Amino acid sequence: MVRHFLDISDFSRATLQSIIDDSIRRKATAKAARVVPGPLAGKTLAMIFENPSTRTRISFDLAMRALGGDTIMLTGAEMQLGRGETIGDTARVLSRYVDAIMIRTLEAAKVEELAANATIPVINGLTRRSHPCQVLADLMTMIEKRGPMDGKTVAWTGSSSNVLISWIHAAPRFGFRLKIATPAEYAPDPSFLDWARREGGEVELGDDPEAAVRGVDCVVTDTWVSMGDTDGERRHNVLKPYQVSSRLMALAHPDAIFMHCLPAHRGDEVEGAVMDGPQSVVWDEAENRLHVQKGILAWCFAGAGA
Ligand code: CP
Repeated sequence: MVRHFLDISDFSRATLQSIIDDSIRRKATAKAARVVPGPLAGKTLAMIFENPSTRTRISFDLAMRALGGDTIMLTGAEMQLGRGETIGDTARVLSRYVDAIMIRTLEAAKVEELAANATIPVINGLTRRSHPCQVLADLMTMIEKRGPMDGKTVAWTGSSSNVLISWIHAAPRFGFRLKIATPAEYAPDPSFLDWARREGGEVELGDDPEAAVRGVDCVVTDTWVSMGDTDGERRHNVLKPYQVSSRLMALAHPDAIFMHCLPAHRGDEVEGAVMDGPQSVVWDEAENRLHVQKGILAWCFAGAGA
């Protein structure tokens, strides 16, 4: 069966944990030897970016090469997709040329249509709805820093975003409590919370950032204005009280870590003193994008018999 990686909610905890464990092993091997045997030699990953990227683009490119494979970088505008060729036809053609596709596009339906028509693995490199590769790296980082997720509490403060939705997907899978503080107008769609609760997740939504972060093991936020948002000025005004400041961080557990998927905007969603302070693990988190992409690629290709 073709193994797509589209959303954390699609997988069992065992599968997700196995990808993270594999990523941690690969990280140790890469650090020790700087040369990794090439299980994906002869394989090519097509990377389609309809939106900008630094981390996702570079980490998938390097991860694929570290596994012995190759990459082709494509932008939607350069392809016939930009002139109206259907996503289904694009999937059928790419399936004849390459061995897997990673796509970043705002439209989640496009990723699903690509996966439905491809005979090779499709990886979600971010949509407006979710960002599963990012949150798998976040989970890997927290597990490395603080051990298994079971019984931990994670707080999210700020606007809802694709990263938050993948955190909501992860909560029932990994057995941690997720406390979310957003203004009502920038809250996650209730359907995601309903899904998490049906799956046995402990996910709480409120509008008080202080209540959300009190005593937690990890504080997470994201940029206030995401790709595709057009109400930047209003967002800055409404979200100001949700900034992760030193004062807010002091309410978390003294050992709490701070995470941010990046790019960050110091002085907006996070105070510079937190971003660059001792509790911040953002650079390890960014590095782990590289290692977790290897785990995801290895998992996808294992399904294809690589
Ligand atoms: N966090 C993240 O996805 O970064 P890029 O947008 O740079 O890929």
